[in-house]
Amino acid sequence: MARIHVRPTGAALGAEVTGVDLSGPLDAGAVAEIRSAWLDHLVLSFPDQPMTHDDLERFTRYFGEFGEDPFIAPLPDRPHIIEVKRGADERASVFAAAWHSDWSFQDTPPAATILHSKIIPPVGGDTLFCNQYAAYDALKDETKARIEGLQAVHSAGLAYAPDGVYGENDGPDRSMTIRPDQRAHATRLHPIVKTHPETGRKALFVNPGYVRTIEGVSDEEAFLLLMEMYEACHADANVYAHKWAPDMLVMWDNRCTQHMATGGYDGHERLLHRTTVAGP
Ligand SMILES: [Fe+2]
Repeated sequence: MARIHVRPTGAALGAEVTGVDLSGPLDAGAVAEIRSAWLDHLVLSFPDQPMTHDDLERFTRYFGEFGEDPFIAPLPDRPHIIEVKRGADERASVFAAAWHSDWSFQDTPPAATILHSKIIPPVGGDTLFCNQYAAYDALKDETKARIEGLQAVHSAGLAYAPDGVYGENDGPDRSMTIRPDQRAHATRLHPIVKTHPETGRKALFVNPGYVRTIEGVSDEEAFLLLMEMYEACHADANVYAHKWAPDMLVMWDNRCTQHMATGGYDGHERLLHRTTVAGP
């Protein structure tokens, strides 16, 4: 009794979902269908969905508890909603324009991230996604054997420490309120190969934004292994470039994808609202 319509993008991941109205409550059947499509396609986009903050929060909670979002100030009256925004004349670097999975340095990184678009520039601003199951599958057997049981060292330091990209040397006109903190230097180990808790499939859990090295491995071997893995992750055939329109909701699974923002829209404003769903 499928009611939602799911149209795969044709790329390595992603599908568009229609036939559902996210501005009102969803019944358990609709939520189950969406969750199933999300686990199958990793990234779901829902076009033509005008939503209030209440709607976004209600939709988020269908999939779990709110995640914990460090280093970025939420909306004043909405502690779980972050504004992802860039002014038309802003000169600071494009936020999050490097491959990563969200907050992978946390003990329990968020399962999902949900973005709802309000103002979308007429050009540029695509979000790129890659499939971390397919990246694992594409590795040579000897590489799979080498990384089995190894752990990567994750840290937010390069981005959110006072001397990080968004720290004291950041562009003075950034419109997002980022809160650099010494605590960003903390490190957390995660297995490189993680079994997804819901699908049971193996995925690579490494990303260049937050992974610094590999525990117990020489710097040189860690560098070579990470480069080999990132080549599989970010190969053109493994990437889906999502094009936004206003009033579009996108949700993705941080446990089996990476993503990055792109620029190319200087002179135009861009505004989206973001929530996260706590893992696992
Ligand atoms: Fe992100």
